[in-house]
Amino acid sequence: MSAQILDGVTVAAKLNEETAERCRHLTARGVRPGLAAVLVGDNPASRTYVAAKAKTCTRLGLYSEVIPLPTETTTDELLTRIATLNQRADIHGILVQMPLPPQIDTPTVIRAIDPDKDVDGFHPVNVGRLALKQEGFIPCTPAGVLALLEHYDIRLRGRRAVVLGRSTIVGLPLALLLLHRDATVTVCHSRTSDLAAVAHTADILVAAIGRTALVTGEFIRPGAVVVDVGINRLTTPDEVRRYFGDNPSRLAELDKKGYTLIGDVHPRQAADCAGYLTPVPGGVGPLTIAMLMRNTLLAAERACRP
Ligand code: GUN
Repeated sequence: MSAQILDGVTVAAKLNEETAERCRHLTARGVRPGLAAVLVGDNPASRTYVAAKAKTCTRLGLYSEVIPLPTETTTDELLTRIATLNQRADIHGILVQMPLPPQIDTPTVIRAIDPDKDVDGFHPVNVGRLALKQEGFIPCTPAGVLALLEHYDIRLRGRRAVVLGRSTIVGLPLALLLLHRDATVTVCHSRTSDLAAVAHTADILVAAIGRTALVTGEFIRPGAVVVDVGINRLTTPDEVRRYFGDNPSRLAELDKKGYTLIGDVHPRQAADCAGYLTPVPGGVGPLTIAMLMRNTLLAAERACRP
C-alpha cells in the first residue's frame, strides 16, 4: 500500500483565501484585524516562526506588529507590555512566542493576556472553554489537524484515535477535540508501556512527541490515518539516508541548508502501510499558521459583534 498524502499546503491555501476574504470584508467596515507578536530574546527558531507569522498576516491583509524584547526582560516588564496590548483597540490577537527565557514566569504571562485576544488558546480560560465545548480559541496546531482531517472527509465518529504526546499545546487539546467529535481517544506519553502496541490499535494515529521517526511501521495498523505533528532536523548524510534512502532532493537540501526536516513518523515505513499520511514538511505545519490567522480574524469579528 502507498498512503494517500494529506496535503497541508493546499488546504492551508484554501483556508487562507477564505480568511483574506473575510478580512477584506471586515476592513471595509472599518475594522482591520490586528495581531501583535511578542518575541523575547533571540532564539533563532522563534525568530523564524514569528517572521513567518507576520509575513502571512501582511499577505492576507491583517495588521501585524512584532514587539522584540531583550533576553533580560523581566516578568513585570512583559506584563506591562501585555497590559498595553490588552487595551489597544487595533490589536485583536496577542501571541507571546514560546519558549520564554528562564527568568520569566510563563504561566503568569499567559494568564495576563486578555482571554478574548488569546489567539494561541493557551490561557486557562480558553483551555476550560475548549474542555466544556464553549466558544473560545482553539490552539492552532490541533485546530489545523482537525481542519486537515475535515477537508479530506476523514470520519472521526466511533473511530479509535491514539494521540502520542500530552503537551498543553498539541496533545491535550487535540485529544479533547477528537473526543468532542465522538472518537474513542487514548493519550500516550513517556510512561506509557508498549507504545507500539497501543498505537497499533489506532484508526487515527497522531504523533506529537518530538522524537525523530519514533513511529515505525510496527506502530501503524495497515490503512490507518497517520498525522505527523513533529518537526525535527536531520543534519548528516548518514541520517538522511537512514530515513529517506538516496532521495536526491533531501540530500541536496541538506547540502544547501545544513539540515532537512523530518517528523515523528518514519516517512518510508509509514508510506508503505498507512492509508493516509501527512508529509513533513507540508502537512500540519502550514495549517498551524493558517489557524493563527483564522483565530485573529475570529477575535476581530467577535470584537465588533453587537
Ligand atoms: N512555540 C511553539 N509553538 C508555539 C505556538 O503555537 N505559539 C506560541 N506562542 N509559541 C510557540
